Amino acid sequence: MAVVVSIDAGTTGVRSFALDETGKQLALSYQEFTQHYPNPGWVEHDPTEIWNAVQFTLSELSGRVKEPIAAIGITNQRETVVAWNRKTSEPLCNAIVWQDLRTSDRCEQLLELGHLDQIRETTGLLLNPYFTATKIEWLLKNKVVEKNSDLAFGTIDSWLLWKLTDGSSYATDVSNASRTLLYDIKKNHWSSEVCELFGIPQSTLPEVLPSSGRFGTTSATTAVGAGIPISGIAGDQQSALFGQACLEPGMTKNTYGTGSFVLMNAGSQCPEPAEGLLTTVAWDLGNGPTYALEGSIFVTGAAIQWLRDGLGVISHASEISDLAKSVPDNGGVYFVPAFAGLGSPWWDTRARGTIIGITGGTERGHLARAVVEAMAFQTRDVVEAMSQAAGTSIGEMRVDGGASVMDLLLQIQANQLGVRVARPIITETTAQGAAMLAGLAEGVWSETGEIHSAWRLDKAFDPQGDRKAYDAEHERWLQALDRSKSWVS
Ligand SMILES: Nc1ncnc2c1ncn2[C@@H]1O[C@H](COP(=O)(O)OP(=O)(O)OP(=O)(O)O)[C@@H](O)[C@H]1O
Ligand SMILES: [Mg+2]
Repeated sequence: MAVVVSIDAGTTGVRSFALDETGKQLALSYQEFTQHYPNPGWVEHDPTEIWNAVQFTLSELSGRVKEPIAAIGITNQRETVVAWNRKTSEPLCNAIVWQDLRTSDRCEQLLELGHLDQIRETTGLLLNPYFTATKIEWLLKNKVVEKNSDLAFGTIDSWLLWKLTDGSSYATDVSNASRTLLYDIKKNHWSSEVCELFGIPQSTLPEVLPSSGRFGTTSATTAVGAGIPISGIAGDQQSALFGQACLEPGMTKNTYGTGSFVLMNAGSQCPEPAEGLLTTVAWDLGNGPTYALEGSIFVTGAAIQWLRDGLGVISHASEISDLAKSVPDNGGVYFVPAFAGLGSPWWDTRARGTIIGITGGTERGHLARAVVEAMAFQTRDVVEAMSQAAGTSIGEMRVDGGASVMDLLLQIQANQLGVRVARPIITETTAQGAAMLAGLAEGVWSETGEIHSAWRLDKAFDPQGDRKAYDAEHERWLQALDRSKSWVS
């Protein structure tokens, strides 16, 4: 039996999986890593700590799985940038994480200078600190790193590929490249014009390859030993779209993790920019890109963690569901978790978190319920923008991610959307997608049809109850949202 290993290098930790040919999970290893918040709005990771977490999880897997590993896939938190020295393979500074807001002012300046149309047309993205380019520009401008022939920039996938191959492969895949704000998604190469705008030499960027295909082979210094092909790479959200078998245009998934990311398969023609949404590359299986429309919501599950770690309202994330069910409704309380500004469809870096509607009778349960409802309201706002862009409403939304275990959330979501919400048995779709990309390239699987047949429904949630009442709640949510916008001057 062939074994495929998938490395899911997320925002809060690394999960590595060993899967067999039937997609069954043979072993899993997880290690969390440190979040650094050096200034308000700044978020950093130590690239060496992430690499050590990868090595740790791989060594645990190789202790448990005796069969030879046919291929490795990598999926990763996107947009986050690592700078390293090619001679020493040492990082030059901490990684700047996707949530980091330090380049907000620079993005506003570029907006005022009128660069948005060019950026949007070329990259499918927006001028927002979320993306990689202004982070790289910041490192160069502030002389944290120096332009020279040893300098390498890369997203987490490139960094891990470099370390796994001991410096022999310097590459990324097209789905990750399409999140940097430096990639021309129609012409399929780094954009010279945009690289010039940010003062980033193309020699400091990795080669861009299809998501499925050989990127390199492991060196003897890795915990799984030498000679294993690394044959699939995709950003975590695109990987989840693939792992959810959303292979036909119009098929849509939402991942409820730290944030939530709604992606709709848009087919092989690059769609026009859509109001409030991003156009991005979903994957390339070697025969040209498949595109996706994306709505990026920065904080959903992270608000549950804030109830736990920030307020101590709960002691485990799993308590939220029962607490939210301890009250019949939100009691008029609305929670806008704009901790890192607002992403799709509002794109407001100056928004901040708001809780409104509190009275003397407000209980912990109401707060928990408002946190759960906020996940559904934010998703509704994105899906409505998506339906408008696509000119048709979505048929069904497939869901995954840590918070998708909550039946309460998924029922509220179906009610708010008026659309079926479907949860598969395997919700580790992020890891599943990267494994599939790698296994397809190495002949473990021969065609994407095998991904379709691996998808099995756990539970479907259909809209129930009074649509008018749901719309009224959503109206109140929009009013709360307005109060949180443009808060920071
Ligand atoms: N039993 C649970 N009930 C409700 N929410 C949960 C539960 N377990 C985890 N969560 C939420 O799920 C989120 C984690 O989900 P997931 O592991 O998919 O996140 P992620 O964004 O992929 O993390 P990473 O960025 O590290 O990849 C947490 O924010 C947590 O609040
Ligand atoms: Mg993840």
